[in-house]
Amino acid sequence: MINIDAKNHVRGTSIYLDDIQEIHGTLFAQPFCAPVAHAKINRINLEPAMAMEGVVAIFTRSDIPGANQIGGIVPDEPLFAEDEIHFWGQPIGLVVGTSEQICRLARKKIEIDFSELPVVTDPRKAARNDSLIVPPRTFNTGNVEDAWEQCEHIFSGRVEVNGQEHLYIEGQGAYAWPKEDDSIYIASSTQGPTAVQRTAAAVLGLPMHKVEVNVQRLGGGFGGKEDQATAWAVMAALAAKKLQKPVKISLHRMDDMMMTGKRHPYSSDYRIGLSKELKILAYEVTHYQNAGAAADLSPAVLERTLFHSTNAYFVPNVRATAYSCRTNLPPNTAFRGFGGPQGKFIIESAIARAASALKVPADHIQKRNLLSEGDVMPYGQKMTEALAKETWEQCAREFDLEKIRQEINEFNATNPRYKKGLAVQPICFGISFTNTMMNHARALVHVYTDGSVVVSTGAVEMGQGVNTKLLQVAAERFGISSDRVKLESTNTLRIANTSPTAASAGADLNGKALEIACDRILSRLKKAAAEKLNAGEIKLANERVVADGEISDMDWEQLVGLAFSKRISLSEHAHYATPNIHFDKKREKGHPFAYHVYGTAIITAVVDCLTGTYEIDRVKLVHDCGKSMNLPVDNGQIEGGLVQGIGWLTLEELLYDEKGKLLSNALSTYKIPDMYSVPGEITIRHYETEGHELAIKKSKAVGEPPLMYGLGAYFAIRNAVTAFNPSADLAINAPYTPEKVLMDLYKKGGGQEKEAVHEAKQTELY
Ligand code: MTE
Ligand code: HPA
Ligand code: MOS
Repeated sequence: MINIDAKNHVRGTSIYLDDIQEIHGTLFAQPFCAPVAHAKINRINLEPAMAMEGVVAIFTRSDIPGANQIGGIVPDEPLFAEDEIHFWGQPIGLVVGTSEQICRLARKKIEIDFSELPVVTDPRKAARNDSLIVPPRTFNTGNVEDAWEQCEHIFSGRVEVNGQEHLYIEGQGAYAWPKEDDSIYIASSTQGPTAVQRTAAAVLGLPMHKVEVNVQRLGGGFGGKEDQATAWAVMAALAAKKLQKPVKISLHRMDDMMMTGKRHPYSSDYRIGLSKELKILAYEVTHYQNAGAAADLSPAVLERTLFHSTNAYFVPNVRATAYSCRTNLPPNTAFRGFGGPQGKFIIESAIARAASALKVPADHIQKRNLLSEGDVMPYGQKMTEALAKETWEQCAREFDLEKIRQEINEFNATNPRYKKGLAVQPICFGISFTNTMMNHARALVHVYTDGSVVVSTGAVEMGQGVNTKLLQVAAERFGISSDRVKLESTNTLRIANTSPTAASAGADLNGKALEIACDRILSRLKKAAAEKLNAGEIKLANERVVADGEISDMDWEQLVGLAFSKRISLSEHAHYATPNIHFDKKREKGHPFAYHVYGTAIITAVVDCLTGTYEIDRVKLVHDCGKSMNLPVDNGQIEGGLVQGIGWLTLEELLYDEKGKLLSNALSTYKIPDMYSVPGEITIRHYETEGHELAIKKSKAVGEPPLMYGLGAYFAIRNAVTAFNPSADLAINAPYTPEKVLMDLYKKGGGQEKEAVHEAKQTELY
């Protein structure tokens, strides 16, 4: 089944926010924001802006009828700044006018008098100042203290990994208009329509039933619209309600980049201990998460970092601690992988460091430590279907890892200028929101009397193909052709109290609810058919009723007509909650995930040792989709995730100056992968299984896990650099931009910077 949006996308007829036909009288709005990262606001003079022709109103915190508060987990984020500014780009107010252009000109005329305060952008500095978003958390298993004694080799060091701009193609925005009776309609580009509804209601001082949020689709979200689409939607709603006019906000790309949070940068300290046989006996890690100026989703992201601190490895003794540090950057937020990629990157860095010092390929260490069935994770979940070894072995066998290694060694031996590097990247990612209470969803199905079917769920289509999968579910359940089924927009009046479409769980949660709804209608239809045809067992296949194994004369449309004439309901609303998941935050133990997704990638890179530029040569991977219900959609997610991961660790360099101003604020200064920098070859193979019962149609969640194959790009480049400059002790500081690669190629000596410390009891090398 091809993606149901494909036709409209290529014709340009898909409706995004900016394609909604503007209602007569629509006004436009633009936020005005803080021109410094930390300051006390003394006075704001709106008059010169208000005096401009075309400016209709300017709203600030004093115009808010309800609460000036949009924080989802911690109430620490005002919609409009109060007395203090906490980050560069923080919204202070909203200019409303007759055109976007007028609003942009007017906001420049607003005079803000402020007294600057010290700016903190470094998470470690924030931690030293005790400036934390939430208290630190520690996951513990075994006994690390005792375990160090048994280790043959111990390495410790520090890793820096930078953030990432989401760069959804459709920028942030919203369009709101008043309805009768004080109600409001909001068209939003959000992954979380309920969050928008709840927050708009609280800010406007309305009950939630007076706020309708509708989402047609997103031009990409990647986590950047899980929480951070809310502010703009609420601002549009506020202006629409105050002025009783339609109001539209669409952020300029540079405003979007400056004002919104990104993937969290982490600075982490690790200590890893190995046995003589290269078994990881102990791992201790302390993560300093750069949360930015408000909590946003940082505590949840922090939690997932802890869950994934040991990636696809079994480590018997672990202590992982994480601090969420408040700095003067825009509040960082969800981004594909949700803290998991950072947790994994640190242990992969520790392994890479150990491998360099011991002069063994990192994959020798990785391979000896992969998870097996029955292993218990540091968070207490016993792995029932651990495919880490299986995907690794299939990958190494099918793609002939040893031959690739040999080819690279030969290439490096004969090439003075170009060097190649190889990395193997296993992944293991837990599927479910780590917050158990979020793992439920609802679906609404109507069958019309002409046999057409309409489906509404809480899932938001953002390019990942969830609507295509949901359509497949309904069509298959009813045994009808897929063009009888239509997926409706995500609307809070049809589906209430939704979790955001996130955690890769959108298709699973909403799909399972949809199955239940379809099955209930189906059982009523079957009963009606059985009575009419005097049959025992009824099935529906290829649009026909099959009675006791015989294809009957009755088709789908006739069956629907029959049921309706007998006054049988053709509609159903169903609820699904993931069974058997739980987590005890006091003990930091439980069974938080419905299941895990596995896979292994082999990545090779070529570095030009004269210039420091590189290419990601080939990526060959084996991925665990369970039993894929839609290979083209899943392969699209694998390719997209992989390339996004490679971009994060190689090209994409987020840069703030020491005053907290974003320097990489446009595509001229922030480089993302393009046609020329994607891998020359991406080969995807699937690890075939029967699939998982808790996955939709046994087809495992695929949205986020493949991003983490991209970690291997860093280490493949690093290995190429080491081939050229074997004696240098290379710090790990992602992204590995060509500039950093060049410096490393000519970095002198080993160990003098003490980036990695080898505390081996004996220095026997393998
Ligand atoms: N794919 C596209 N094309 N666009 C997106 O915004 N978001 C990713 C992933 N794949 C995204 C995407 C993220 S962060 C998540 S959590 C999942 O899709 C969400 O969708 P799902 O739950 O249906 O997999
Ligand atoms: N993943 C993604 N998004 C989330 C999660 C999660 O575990 N929890 C809350 N939002
Ligand atoms: Mo995805 S980061 O869970 O929206």
